[in-house]
Amino acid sequence: MVLNSVVENTFNQQINAELYASYLYLSMSAWLEHADLPGFARFMRGQSQEEYEHAMRFLEHIEDRDGFVRLLPIEAPPTEFDSVEDVIAQALAHEAHVSVLINDIYRITVENEDHAAQVMLHWFITEQVEEEKLFRDILAELRKVDGQSDALLLLDRDMGNRTDTDAGT
Ligand code: FEO
Repeated sequence: MVLNSVVENTFNQQINAELYASYLYLSMSAWLEHADLPGFARFMRGQSQEEYEHAMRFLEHIEDRDGFVRLLPIEAPPTEFDSVEDVIAQALAHEAHVSVLINDIYRITVENEDHAAQVMLHWFITEQVEEEKLFRDILAELRKVDGQSDALLLLDRDMGNRTDTDAGT
């Protein structure tokens, strides 16, 4: 079934939202690198890469369904953060926002009886649960560290070793 224009439009907007998330996490990674937290910086660089891959999933679905990809301007992300805790709290808030977007797209695919898009979106619904949990858990770890430099050094080292598998895909 060829994509109808309503679903196509929401998918194009979601490509933009995923690319913005990629840009946001890349900006966070750069700030963390500058703040001498290379482990967290590496981790957020990986998250940025994952968001790019999410955008490609939406793009490829449009192409597979003979739809038309329309790339939109990507908003500039913030470049200044208060602390590593602020970075992770903002990432968690952003994931919660993306979950709302995905749920909204899903509702639109149901209204348009687009079953193929719904099957594709199931992966994202599961992914959002994992990503919100991932950032929530890191935030909890940071709160236990509570600014102690030795503990933060250890956590940073640990974050740098977390693989893509730990972080979800
Ligand atoms: Fe693509 Fe982390 O949502």
